[in-house]
Amino acid sequence: SMNLSFHSDALPDVDRITGRRRMRRNRRTDWSRRLIRENRLTLDDLIWPIFVIEGENKCEAVPSMPGVERFSVDLAVKAAERARNLGIPVLALFPNTHPEKRDDQGSEALNESNLICRACREIKAAVPEVGLLTDVALDPYTSHGHDGLLREGEIINDESVSVLARQALVQAQAGCDIVAPSDMMDGRVGAIRETLDAAGYGHVQIVAYTAKYASAFYGPFRDAVGSGTMLSGDKKTYQMDPANSDEALREAELDIAEGADMIMVKPGLPYLDIIRRLKDTFGMPTVAYNTSGEYSMIEAAAANGWLDGDRAMMEQLIAFKRAGADSILTYFAPRAAEILRANR
Ligand code: PBG
Repeated sequence: SMNLSFHSDALPDVDRITGRRRMRRNRRTDWSRRLIRENRLTLDDLIWPIFVIEGENKCEAVPSMPGVERFSVDLAVKAAERARNLGIPVLALFPNTHPEKRDDQGSEALNESNLICRACREIKAAVPEVGLLTDVALDPYTSHGHDGLLREGEIINDESVSVLARQALVQAQAGCDIVAPSDMMDGRVGAIRETLDAAGYGHVQIVAYTAKYASAFYGPFRDAVGSGTMLSGDKKTYQMDPANSDEALREAELDIAEGADMIMVKPGLPYLDIIRRLKDTFGMPTVAYNTSGEYSMIEAAAANGWLDGDRAMMEQLIAFKRAGADSILTYFAPRAAEILRANR
């Protein structure tokens, strides 16, 4: 007859089923969980992106990124001091360029005293021990919001590459340690490497945005740098199709052959499979870009009380490590660093 009540004699023989292997034994205590932990997030994994604006002693909130601010150069120096004090190895700088300084060529990118260059010089002078990463792309400087030069409705590749290589050199001359081409033009890594080497900047590293997808997760960032409303059309003719994975391997092969020191996958969270494939295939230092959209999703849900923001943040960050990333560019960097230090 059918036995609907849970008598002890109705218990399944789990020892027989599992062959006495009990996965939960290792999970019983905190010390045991710590002992068998496979991946760890440390301060050394973090790259902290900040937005820079004109002015002095100015700090303005980015509405679509609660908790993130744009800093004038003097306050960017303070942020660098905070990074140093927290033990964050690298700061990434993004300029919010005034619309009046934008044109269809993105000429301001080549101005050696533009916002980014001034920020590099001042931060390097005050806090030389923090690494500085700068983005190489024209979108913060173009009136059309594209990463390259626009001609008759097309982003033209080779002419864009020559401007980008000069932009990278201007940044290196201002003292940045790592240039990060995020434009996705063909051949830009090699052109930047040649230009830097020829000018005596052989020590400047290149993080290639290798697998950068045409993504909806950049929305808040475009807001933060002020290029959102400027963008005409989309970036699908140069950024990758989210449906593709093999193509990321071919991009990586090229970037590595052209001289990339590290490769990056962007966005991060929806592309953990790409991080794993690139890491397994090439064994290169691999960076995950935890984008603005990934940041704001958590912040928005946490603000509504729908999830625990700090726990969701730490879970996202360890997921990058588990997927094979060596480091993570994340707006969460200072908060994660504080939690990591408190738990030490
Ligand atoms: C620009 C650039 C973008 C980001 C970094 N560099 C935006 C874009 O390609 O439109 C996105 C960063 C983020 O969403 O956090 N070349």
